[in-house]
Amino acid sequence: MKFFIDTANLDQIRQANELGILDGVTTNPSLMAKEGIKGVAAIRQHYKDICNIVDGDVSAEVLSCDFESMIKEGEELAALDEKIVVKVPCTKDGIRAVKYFTDNGIRTNCTLIFSVGQALLAAKAGATYVSPFVGRLDDISSDGVALVAQIVDVFRTYGYETQVLAASIRSTQHIIQCLEVGADVATCPLNPILGLLNHPLTDRGLETFMKDAAKMNQ
Ligand code: E4P
Repeated sequence: MKFFIDTANLDQIRQANELGILDGVTTNPSLMAKEGIKGVAAIRQHYKDICNIVDGDVSAEVLSCDFESMIKEGEELAALDEKIVVKVPCTKDGIRAVKYFTDNGIRTNCTLIFSVGQALLAAKAGATYVSPFVGRLDDISSDGVALVAQIVDVFRTYGYETQVLAASIRSTQHIIQCLEVGADVATCPLNPILGLLNHPLTDRGLETFMKDAAKMNQ
């Protein structure tokens, strides 16, 4: 399973990248706004900065909702760097845009996926990735991981090449659950990724090893 970091924060992207396990980055308008990025020039420069840090796919989301504007915006974003994957919402115009981008060699991440039907339409339009939102489904007492499992199953049954990118990951446990159901990618904030490292027996074992190492160094 590939790991993407779900942030527009350059320090956190650098930290994850330094671990040597990072396969890409996803952003969305909320994450970009959180970093105080304003205006077209600043947005584009920020995507270029992210692409300069990471050796992998970088999802850049369109800010418009109608087909023509999404096409214009997506083409401009894709031209910034070959790592850019244009992120498009799963709407009627969005699916049309995914198909247009597919036909024109531009990779896409179809986002805001909350049902297997939406994932199916995105895959049929040729999306590179579909992003089911695990945490936001859990937030409304639904089962986000079950949706990931259902999409993985359908794509495998019918041979769709579209990758299942589990998004809206809120915890380390979500990462493990998405791994277990066969997600191709999990995009997560830095803390759940670092949480994978945590085990009290590792801490306790290391403490003992370091005490014994000190005895040998005396
Ligand atoms: C990523 O592609 C999504 O935009 C993101 O994971 C949404 O996460 P949230 O539900 O925690 O905002």
